[in-house]
Amino acid sequence: MKLSRRNFLALSCGAAGLVNTPLVLSGPVQAAEAKNVSPGLHQLAQIRKVDFGTCFSSHLIKGDPSYTDAVLANCGVIVPENEMKWEQLHPTAERFDFSKSDRLAEFASRNHLSLRGHTLVWHLQQPAWIKAIDGAASAERILIDHIETVVGRYSQSVSSWDVVNEAIEPSHGRRDGLRQTIWLDLLGPEYLDLAFYAAHAAAPECQLVYNDYSLELANREHGKRRYHTLKLLEGMLARGVPVHALGIQGHLPADVGQFDSDTFAEFLRNVSGLGLKVLITELDVSDRNLRSNTEYRDRKVAEVYQAFLETALDNPAVTGILTWGLSDRYSWLQENRPRDDKIPMRPLPLDANLERKQAWHAIAKVFSTDPTWSRGSSASD
Ligand code: XIL
Repeated sequence: MKLSRRNFLALSCGAAGLVNTPLVLSGPVQAAEAKNVSPGLHQLAQIRKVDFGTCFSSHLIKGDPSYTDAVLANCGVIVPENEMKWEQLHPTAERFDFSKSDRLAEFASRNHLSLRGHTLVWHLQQPAWIKAIDGAASAERILIDHIETVVGRYSQSVSSWDVVNEAIEPSHGRRDGLRQTIWLDLLGPEYLDLAFYAAHAAAPECQLVYNDYSLELANREHGKRRYHTLKLLEGMLARGVPVHALGIQGHLPADVGQFDSDTFAEFLRNVSGLGLKVLITELDVSDRNLRSNTEYRDRKVAEVYQAFLETALDNPAVTGILTWGLSDRYSWLQENRPRDDKIPMRPLPLDANLERKQAWHAIAKVFSTDPTWSRGSSASD
């Protein structure tokens, strides 16, 4: 069969791909060309047969129209920054609150964006009532009920879920590297399998992702996390657990010296060798430790985006790139990991005025690089 880029995308959809509905590749590119506007990052990402997107928040839809326009111009996929976490969705034991997540799902659908879900099990941003759960039986019932309710509600709109987030913490001293969490305490390591089975039962077509951080750099700490992540995934697959992809968060420091392409490429080969897809789910590049000069910071940040994405996109198992925010106007790093000198950080593709930075151009360059030599093209392509 002659495999055009369009039916390649359609074929790569479904449980193992990022989207359930085929992307109409020619639409946005042609529209951009017809209107004589330069294509956004998602259009360029199609050249490498991947999707591009960002996290997004429901209050910005009405609250910041120009930012929302920038998201629409650059993204084919969004993921709620906070709206699908337990504390927002399930504030009391008896009550779910879908108001904000529904708004995002409706926004995604109206604008033909794919929607990722984040996240069904995490040790942070949990409501206080969780601490009162007593015993394995009620923990199992509550976890399964939460997952079935949430995944079921969005089974037609969310095509890819971060089922479990950040389950590994080698410093907690367990042989399996698992983090000590409330769910591990109550249910043992089986909580991970349980979560994936419940999600799969509620949305059999949905891509199910294990998501984690500090997997990218060539240091001992990241090496340990890579080791435990591979072991975790191998074990789940051996048990027949429906896990389809690894989500690599990609919160990187703006120090290209800490990134070793060979080490990261080997990890990606190990993951894809298990038959899993890979998503880069929360990419940003922190300029926290750089001197304050703006031009310098922007150049260093862009260098890391470029080196990281060149390596990531060299592996055909990587099917999507999402940054954690699109513009420096809104970055979790500013709140959570600010610079010592308190000047505004510049970790994202657009600046606070929504102008393209060197980082945007570096990403665009990697997306635009002719991939015919690398991404699984054949003579019939
Ligand atoms: C962050 C959000 O961006 C913040 O708004 C919130 O205050 C804390 O959580 N890894 C994750 C994301 O998986 O959910 C986190 O998001 C950033 C780190």
